[in-house]
Amino acid sequence: MDNAGDYLHFRTETDQDNVAWLTFDKAETGTNVFSPDVLEELDRLLQGIAAQHPRGLVVLSGKPGGFIAGADIRSFTRVRNEQDAMAFLQRGQEVFNRLAACTFPTVAMIHGFCLGGGTEMALACRYRVMRDDPGTRIGLPEVRLGIHPGWGGSARMVPLIGAVKAMDLILSGRSIDGRAAQRFGLVDRVAPERHLREAARRLILDQPPPCRAGFLGRLSNNALVRPLLGRIFRRQVAKRASRLHYPAPYAMIDIWQRHTGNQFRVLQAEAESLARLITGATARNLIRVFFLMERLKSLGKDSSWRPEHVHVIGAGAMGGDIASWCALRGFRVSLQDQAPERIAPALARAHTLFRRKLKHPRKVQAAMDRLIPDHKGYGVGRADIVIEAIFEDAEVKRALYRDTEPRMKSDAILATNTSSIPLEELTESLSRPGRLVGLHFFNPVAKMQLVEIVHGQATDSDVAGRAMAFTRQIDRLPLPVSSTPGFLVNRILMPYLMEAVVLESEGVPATLIDQAATVFGMPMGPVELADTVGLDICLHVAEILGSHFNAEVPERLQKLVAGGNLGKKSGQGFYRYKKGKAIKPGAAASSWNMEDITNRLVLRLLNEAVSCIREQVVGDAELLDAGMVFGTGFAPFRGGPMNHVDAVGAAELLKLLENEKHLRGDRFTPDPGWESLIRSANGSQ
Ligand code: NAI
Repeated sequence: MDNAGDYLHFRTETDQDNVAWLTFDKAETGTNVFSPDVLEELDRLLQGIAAQHPRGLVVLSGKPGGFIAGADIRSFTRVRNEQDAMAFLQRGQEVFNRLAACTFPTVAMIHGFCLGGGTEMALACRYRVMRDDPGTRIGLPEVRLGIHPGWGGSARMVPLIGAVKAMDLILSGRSIDGRAAQRFGLVDRVAPERHLREAARRLILDQPPPCRAGFLGRLSNNALVRPLLGRIFRRQVAKRASRLHYPAPYAMIDIWQRHTGNQFRVLQAEAESLARLITGATARNLIRVFFLMERLKSLGKDSSWRPEHVHVIGAGAMGGDIASWCALRGFRVSLQDQAPERIAPALARAHTLFRRKLKHPRKVQAAMDRLIPDHKGYGVGRADIVIEAIFEDAEVKRALYRDTEPRMKSDAILATNTSSIPLEELTESLSRPGRLVGLHFFNPVAKMQLVEIVHGQATDSDVAGRAMAFTRQIDRLPLPVSSTPGFLVNRILMPYLMEAVVLESEGVPATLIDQAATVFGMPMGPVELADTVGLDICLHVAEILGSHFNAEVPERLQKLVAGGNLGKKSGQGFYRYKKGKAIKPGAAASSWNMEDITNRLVLRLLNEAVSCIREQVVGDAELLDAGMVFGTGFAPFRGGPMNHVDAVGAAELLKLLENEKHLRGDRFTPDPGWESLIRSANGSQ
């Protein structure tokens, strides 16, 4: 052991072969991240190690969970201006350049996640060795936060594996496991846990030739090839994200195309461009979304409760998929339905899901074994949580509860997946109303991360806490909401969808309505979304919400449903569908005012969001934004509806709403909540 007590975040020791082992173990946290003090310590240590002339250096992590998660994202939020950002970035580059310049061999020994700055540090080592397991992954996920690598990530990865593979990783932000990384030429060795240290040691002692790009990899960085490849990269990125809303991947391609071959210039350009991006609105909002996700994740932490057995009643579109998702996440699940013929298709869908997610036949079989068909509902008596997902009819649900509750364990939770019925309408048939909680999943279950945790007036807070813990255990994001009609997400979404129907019935082509929404940043336009959800389901929810909030349901929607045009599932809704894909007729935007269309859609959504804040359907504006981003995909680069209200200004939006009300009627009546938003905005100025 060479150092004792000098350093807060690192330990070093030198073995009998004079190999130095540098363990990163950031103080007072479970995850290694780079903050300014960590960088300073690392720099001093590297200078000290170099002065001792070791035979080699292995960098590893002292955290069981992983190697290094990247730069400390909280420090991004403290960056005040581009100069600040530049100073932090250049300091990181200096330290990693020092590591790269070591005259002795250096190895990054990676287990668990190795992301962002962690990957950049690993790239500054001569060799990389990764533990061989699915939980060990390497990647550069910066684009997901609206930025790109800035500590040499592109400067070192591009020459190492070639532009095609490097850009695949950098522009998508995806991470890969050790075997894939070895195929990419990104790591030199992959080894199981028990051989990992030895693999790292051997690299130092034997000094084999390090990974290097093959012929095609080198060709991809050739000055003559770059303009052509650059066009292809830009076209691929444009399919997912526009330059206006997501500038980072485009900036990365520009840097690569302009400066490859001159590492000094690439490093400088990485830092300059990142300093600009990190102080811009997109990165600020995407970082906000990252913290919103962290907040939702932390909501499940208060309870250590974990069910052993989950029982799901209703094997339809939702119940079947909820059951298979729970089995996928390791729970024993029984699946009940009054119609036995509904269970077999649910099991077939489960099998497809397990094959896609688990790949290995033995794991697929184990997951199938965990999912038990249970037509008669014998699992009720064994379950710690019973999830009801039957028809959306309060009387049918009450009748089921009357029959089910007496057979449940005394401390078991009853959760309903109702999408619109307030819990108070369901508790009257229960002897213990406190055990009923809403667990509102979104469709498709395997894709949508959000689950609304509906807290009724009678719901025990311990039951809601357990429901949140369970939601995290199945890797979903819990959002506590009050038991009001439509809860949060559907309530806010519905006026927006209904305005799209009104626009369509006024003659605006559906394609243009959808285009207005996707240009604003929605993942899918409202017309296509309504078709995808099912027009019958939309109508049903619109009618329930309409009856509570005195809102009209457009006649056009009623007519389509009456005519059997239910959307994607029936092959015809607003659009016609061929092989599950909407056929979108071309439409010239010139005869319509696109800004007006966007305003109408977005204003109705924002007005309802403001109403939900005023009525405290959720705890605060942050939680509302989290719900809409993770429940509907609301333009993440805008940071959520309430963040958008802040950015545009409540007073400005109120004026627009009043104008729309004057032109189009009461559905645009501004919610009283706007006034208090304006007052608090003025107060904080
Ligand atoms: P579905 O009609 O596809 O499935 C309902 C299933 O429940 C059917 O298989 C039916 O046989 C079964 N069932 C009805 N009464 C029963 C009883 N007494 N005992 C046992 N089984 C019974 O319906 P879906 O779409 O799966 O909806 C279920 C629930 O989930 C509803 O409350 C709905 O509001 C909610 N929901 C639906 C979403 C969607 O997009 N479809 C999204 C979120 C929530």
